[in-house]
Amino acid sequence: MAEENVLKENLREAASRLHALLGGREPEVGIILGSGLGPLADQVEDAVVVPFGQIPHMKRSTATNHKGQFVCGSLGGKCVLVMQGRLHGYEGNTPQEVAFPVWVMHELGVGTIITTNAAGAINESYNVGDFCIMSDHINFTGRNPIVGQDPDGIAFRFFSMKDAYDPELRALAHRVASENGISVQEGVYLGLLGPSFETPAEIRMFRAWGADTVAMSVVEEVIAARHVGMRVLGISLCSNMACGIEGASPSDEEVFEVAQRREPDFCRLVTEVVRGM
Ligand code: HPA
Repeated sequence: MAEENVLKENLREAASRLHALLGGREPEVGIILGSGLGPLADQVEDAVVVPFGQIPHMKRSTATNHKGQFVCGSLGGKCVLVMQGRLHGYEGNTPQEVAFPVWVMHELGVGTIITTNAAGAINESYNVGDFCIMSDHINFTGRNPIVGQDPDGIAFRFFSMKDAYDPELRALAHRVASENGISVQEGVYLGLLGPSFETPAEIRMFRAWGADTVAMSVVEEVIAARHVGMRVLGISLCSNMACGIEGASPSDEEVFEVAQRREPDFCRLVTEVVRGM
């Protein structure tokens, strides 16, 4: 008999519960909303809301302003499954717990995810309030959700991370941004565990490594998505200059203020990208 794969079993149970709660909706696109970016979920039409707590084996969100619920309905003319709030490593979640909802989306038939966050800008040519399309990432969390036997039983553990951030989706995002008069950057994102912000010395090191932005999410989700062959688009809102850049000292309040200010453009950008997919 084949060895028991607990992760696979848990994913099946979670996906089948979520499927039942979605009342026949069949989402094609998954959207993960980062800090302060949750209001986009309120624009989903004909929405059904499922708190993470109703899904077996799924962790709840404890982060500030992360509602911790799925919102499924219509956005940009497509059926989307939005995570209004995400799970972070710094909340005490294991890498597999962080990745779990991404794999659940895949089980439900979602083929593409748009993952978003608020990030610190390391690149000095960026401005607070800029959007940055992720071209690639540096995983500096020291963790990886594919570690262990069970993920390897779902899909092969040695897979390429080249073009993890889909070149066609990046081109689409640039096109949509320019059509809507929204200026965007494109750069390398560095993800770490947090929850303390970085030191100026760390930021200088990350800049030397080629990182343009930094935050405490996304990389584990993207590794999980690529593991099962989902297409990925990543968009950061530069909510602050990274620690030490132009004398910056980041704070949680600043992140939310900037997210609130940039909300209309953020909603338009993501909605029109979904429409163009
Ligand atoms: N560092 C890490 N995470 C962040 C930042 C930052 O400067 N801004 C928003 N999330």
